[in-house]
Amino acid sequence: MEQFIIKGGKPLQGEVKIGGAKNAALAIIAAAAMSDEDVTIENIPDVRDINVMLLALQEIGASVNRVDAHKVIINGKSITSFDVDYEYIKKIRASYYLLGALLGKYKRAEVALPGGCAIGARPIDLHLKGFRALGATCDVSYGLISAKAEKLRGTHIYLDKVSVGATINIMLAATLAEGKTIIENAAKEPHVVDVANLLNSMGANIKGAGTDVIRIFGVEKLHGTEYSVIPDQIEAGTFMFAAAATHGDVLVKNVIPKHLEATTAKLLETGCEIVEYDDAVRVIATHTTLQPTSVTTLPYPGFPTDMQPQMTVVLGLAGGVSTVTEGIWENRFKYVDELNRMGSNIRVESNIAIITGVDHYTGAEVSAPDLRAGAALIIAGLAADGFTTIDDIHYIQRGYEHIEEKFRQLGADMELVDSEHDRQKFLLKVG
Ligand code: UD1
Repeated sequence: MEQFIIKGGKPLQGEVKIGGAKNAALAIIAAAAMSDEDVTIENIPDVRDINVMLLALQEIGASVNRVDAHKVIINGKSITSFDVDYEYIKKIRASYYLLGALLGKYKRAEVALPGGCAIGARPIDLHLKGFRALGATCDVSYGLISAKAEKLRGTHIYLDKVSVGATINIMLAATLAEGKTIIENAAKEPHVVDVANLLNSMGANIKGAGTDVIRIFGVEKLHGTEYSVIPDQIEAGTFMFAAAATHGDVLVKNVIPKHLEATTAKLLETGCEIVEYDDAVRVIATHTTLQPTSVTTLPYPGFPTDMQPQMTVVLGLAGGVSTVTEGIWENRFKYVDELNRMGSNIRVESNIAIITGVDHYTGAEVSAPDLRAGAALIIAGLAADGFTTIDDIHYIQRGYEHIEEKFRQLGADMELVDSEHDRQKFLLKVG
């Protein structure tokens, strides 16, 4: 069983390059299959969720040419099946994007109900509300969601809750509907804009992505294009918080600083120094005494829920009492028990974590309960005294590319081990 083993206590120093945004790339891959011409996508991250999505496209007949780890050429002309129901696809949440993409293009789709991280109830009612408003009939039975329509017609859709997935999914289907669709109370996340930009470069006519109201003027078909995925703001934020927790000095390269504003603002409140460049952010915490603060997760441009566990790890080391309020998912503090085993002092009441800062963490054997919480436990391990072993790292590998190598480049003592022999080797190496 693969594990991460970390000897903590070293300040991270140096430069790290951030890859493409997983959550943008997942939707972009689905969107690419909506054209019968070649769509070349660059800057895809080489992570498990992406590989599962590409396999799913292959399964339904699309041509998927993985040019290299970060570049793929997709052509949807050869798609022959509209049923996406194979073992792995159930494990990724973003499988639902195939519903919007196939419904838009072929007016029918059947996709296994999505899985993903267990961070709370993950309904898809808003996705289905949108598809139905466009004229589709939708049915959920035997673990499958099916949607079909004679014709999709543009319409007015108000999303009762801000949902990234529903906004993108409706946008995908509406791109090839007849007439104009208006999505109100749309999500404004950078990846919503990225998917709209890709679709527009394929000939779609989408306006207003990045605001509350998106207008989609349906087109008949989409053509080929070449597109590069935006940098991953969550991967970037993870390294920024790791720099803070370890009192390091790290230049996080290949980012869009605007997408990191909420993260940057919170790090400033904890006392870190931040220097912003055009496409990089430097976090300096070498002499910082971390200060407590409060944070609430909200839809973009609010503080991202996917950065919540990493932020908690930093606040766990701040001198005083902080609070972290989870505003998106109801079950996102499962990692707190693991962190408390490393010496943190955190109490969870409903959707609020009340954190009393401690002087230091101590290494322990912990398990990653989900993707971002797993990343947070790595940060805790890097900051902790002694050795930390993290189990269930397959969650982390769903969304972070070679995270152990990237942390090693910053001076961390961290290894991916698969046997007792590997483990002993690491222990000998780091003493
Ligand atoms: C995406 C991200 C995920 C991130 C989340 C919020 C992907 C693959 N995943 O998930 O990492 O944590 O955005 O930034 O991009 N909701 C409904 N009905 C729906 C859909 C959502 O009530 O039909 C609710 C959810 O329960 C949640 C909130 O809306 O409380 C936000 O969910 P949403 O933005 O849809 O998250 P995802 O797109 O699934």
